[in-house]
Amino acid sequence: MSQNESGMSEVTVEVPMNIALVKYWGKRDEKLILPLNDSISLTVDKLTARTTIRMIQGVGKHTVEINDEKVELSSNKRYQTVFDEALRLQRKRKEDSNGNENRSVSHHFEVISTTNFPVAAGLASSAAGFAAIALAIQQLLNLDDIQANRLARIGSGSACRSMSGGLVHWKKGEKDDGSDCVAVKTNDDNWADLYCVILVFNDGCKKVGSSEGMRWTRETSTLLKHRIEKVVPERIDLIKKAYATRNFEDLARVIMADSNQFHAICLDTVPPIRYLNESSWQLIETVEKFNQPEIKAAYTFDAGPNACVIVQKKDVSKFIKALIRDIQINTDDLETLPEEFRSIEYQKDEGTENNFVCTKLVVSSMGSGPEI
Ligand code: PMV
Repeated sequence: MSQNESGMSEVTVEVPMNIALVKYWGKRDEKLILPLNDSISLTVDKLTARTTIRMIQGVGKHTVEINDEKVELSSNKRYQTVFDEALRLQRKRKEDSNGNENRSVSHHFEVISTTNFPVAAGLASSAAGFAAIALAIQQLLNLDDIQANRLARIGSGSACRSMSGGLVHWKKGEKDDGSDCVAVKTNDDNWADLYCVILVFNDGCKKVGSSEGMRWTRETSTLLKHRIEKVVPERIDLIKKAYATRNFEDLARVIMADSNQFHAICLDTVPPIRYLNESSWQLIETVEKFNQPEIKAAYTFDAGPNACVIVQKKDVSKFIKALIRDIQINTDDLETLPEEFRSIEYQKDEGTENNFVCTKLVVSSMGSGPEI
C-alpha cells in the first residue's frame, strides 16, 4: 500500500474467479445477499481481475473503470452499496478509537480494474471484480477477514468465495444480520494437482441474470426445498472428504451431479430457465465418453453455456485430445497452452467435422487464491 502527501492511499490486488463445485442458487435475504444454501468452490488461477483502488481524501464521486470503460454507477447500485459499507466501517473505527483520528475527513474511491478474460463471456467476472475491490479496501482500511468477506458478498454473492485459495466453503449462516454468513478456507492444503479446462461457447442466447433467476426459482420450484435441506449438506460433506483424501473419482461424481441438479432446478422454475446449449450438451457427452472406464474428468456449468472441466494434471493433454474430436477449438488457443500441455497430437482426424465451436479455451491451475 502506498500513501502520498495529500492523503491518497492506493492498493493493487489480483484476484481469480472461482467455480462452485456445489452451487449457490437462491437468496434468503436479497439486500444482504444471504444464500439459502451453503456452497463450496475452488479458484481458477488464470482468470483474474487486477484492480487498483485509490482512496482519495475529500468529497467527490466514486468512479469505477473496467477494461478501460467507465461503469455507470447509477445503474450498477452494488458498487455504491460496497463503498457506503466500507466508509461506514471506516467511520465506526474512528468513533471506536476515542477520537484519536480525525473524524470529519471524508473520502471517495477510484477503482481501475482489468480482467484477462472478456467480461461478456459469462465467466463470473463480477465475482473476481468485487472480491478484488473488497480485498483492496481491506488493505486500505485495515478491515478484518469477516468484514472484507461481507464487503465482497454484498457486491456479488459468490465473490466472497474468491477471497482465499484452497477449497472454500461459503456458509449460509442462520442470523438475519448475516454475521455468520462467511466464506472460509477449509483446513486442507491446496490440491495443486487439480486443473481446469474452461470452454467458452458463445451462442448469443439471452440469459436470465442470476439474481432474477434465483428469485423465480425460490418462488416457484418445488425441488429447491429438497435440494437445500437434504442434498446440499450431504454434498458439501462429500466434497470436503473427497478433497481431503484426494479421491478424484468421488470428487468428480459430486461435481457433475451438482451441476446437473442446479440446471434441473432451473428447469423446475416457472418460467423455466435454460442455461445450457447444444455445445454444452456435446461437452457433457465428450466427458462421459472420456470417463469410460474410469472417471478422469468432471464438468460443471454456472448460469450460462460455458463449461469448466476439472481434471488432474496428468490427464489434461489426454482430455484435450478427446475434446478436439468432438468440438472445434482455436488453433491459437492450443498453441498458447502452458508448455507442459502443448502437443503435436492435437490434430483433428481428417474427415471428422463437427458443428460445435468453442470460441475460447483456457487451461488453468486451481486454488491459488488472490495476490496482494
Ligand atoms: O454470485 P452470483 O450472483 O453471480 O451467482 C452465482 C450463481 C452460480 O454461478 C450459478 C453458482 C455459484 O455458486 O457460483
